[in-house]
Amino acid sequence: MTEANTQPEVNIGLVGHVDHGKTTLVQALSGSWTDQHSEEMKRGISIRLGYADATFRRCPGVDEPECYTTEEECADGSTSEVLRTVSFVDAPGHETLMATMLSGASIMDGAVLVVSATEDVPQAQTEEHLMALDLIGIENIVIAQNKVDLVDRDRAVDNHRQIQEFVEGTVAEGAPIVPVSAGQEVNLDLLMQTIEEEIPTPERDPGEDARMFAARSFDINRPGATASELKGGVVGGSLVSGELAVGDGLEIRPGRQVDEEGQTEWRPLETSVRSLQAGNNDVESARPGGLLGVGTGLDPSLTKGDALAGQVAGEPGTLPPTRHEFEMKVDLLDRVVGKEDDESGESDIEEITTGEPLMLTVGTATTVGAVTSARDGECEVSLKRPVCAEAGAQIAINRRVGARWRLIGIGTLS
Ligand code: GTP
Repeated sequence: MTEANTQPEVNIGLVGHVDHGKTTLVQALSGSWTDQHSEEMKRGISIRLGYADATFRRCPGVDEPECYTTEEECADGSTSEVLRTVSFVDAPGHETLMATMLSGASIMDGAVLVVSATEDVPQAQTEEHLMALDLIGIENIVIAQNKVDLVDRDRAVDNHRQIQEFVEGTVAEGAPIVPVSAGQEVNLDLLMQTIEEEIPTPERDPGEDARMFAARSFDINRPGATASELKGGVVGGSLVSGELAVGDGLEIRPGRQVDEEGQTEWRPLETSVRSLQAGNNDVESARPGGLLGVGTGLDPSLTKGDALAGQVAGEPGTLPPTRHEFEMKVDLLDRVVGKEDDESGESDIEEITTGEPLMLTVGTATTVGAVTSARDGECEVSLKRPVCAEAGAQIAINRRVGARWRLIGIGTLS
């Protein structure tokens, strides 16, 4: 198989309510489990964006949808043809983790909305995640009606109708609904076929400036590694434009916080690309699409524990400015979505007011900002942690409602 076919070329988000089966579905399609963190293992939820690649294949001479597979060998012993490799971004469904879901949404080219057939539709985060896809403009959506092994035919049909009614008037109206069992691996061939048809690889221009949104960062060294064994920090994320190659210079913004003589400032980091991992392979160069691991020359203490998550990387001198404050145009939702009936707080969304704190997701960065001025449809915010973002960037705006942050609208950076 050639490298070209195994580098993921499209990012597909797995979104939906907690425990509806996103992680199980990614595992069934990719053979890898995205919950890689011990804390996540303990809590049993995907607390950080997990990602996993799957190569979709087709067995020649076999009817649709049975021809779709992730196996190299077909039932008749022949070798399957590679269609493309997709990267799944597994967003958490737990209610307090909406910001993480939104940061994943900024790197998704399409999404699979996972809805369990065992519960009434919509559950809180099903609604909230769909609203986020709507706001961020992710239009290519496939709905996986999961856990059909646990319900009878009547219940499955009723649930299917509920899903159809629920998505009416949203970005997912008319999206195909594929009944599956991620747990029992039933109907995954039809799901693959539907993803192939509904979520095409976006057209990209490799001549553009390289721009990577960091979603994770790591120190990959084992405790006790000697100085000569130490490997530089690794940044994981998505290249959204341009190309990156081993040996390229790399700038990362906002960079690191430096406190000197009572002053705090953020200094961009400069390093070079030492290695690239795409589609679980080491590669010499990477194109946009899929999720990428970039080995750098940075001190691993700078990348440890997702320290650089939310930052932007690219060729030195080409990145957008680091912003400590900005002005944005604001479009508010009509009402708070995803709220449980017994939760306190208003359902109607009031105008943004001067002085109120907002949680803002810009690209893969999430930061809290205080509103310094608010007018009709526009506001200025001063950020606790700066972001690197260009004019026109979309911002998910969250306000504290009751006990948690709720999505209230979308902003456009002026
Ligand atoms: P979060 O990551 O916490 O948001 O949950 P999730 O949506 O990723 O759900 P997960 O894949 O962890 O599945 C939740 C539970 O449902 C697990 O116990 C799975 O084994 C089970 N499950 C998932 N899919 C199926 C299915 O198709 N059939 C059955 N019977 N169980 C399933």
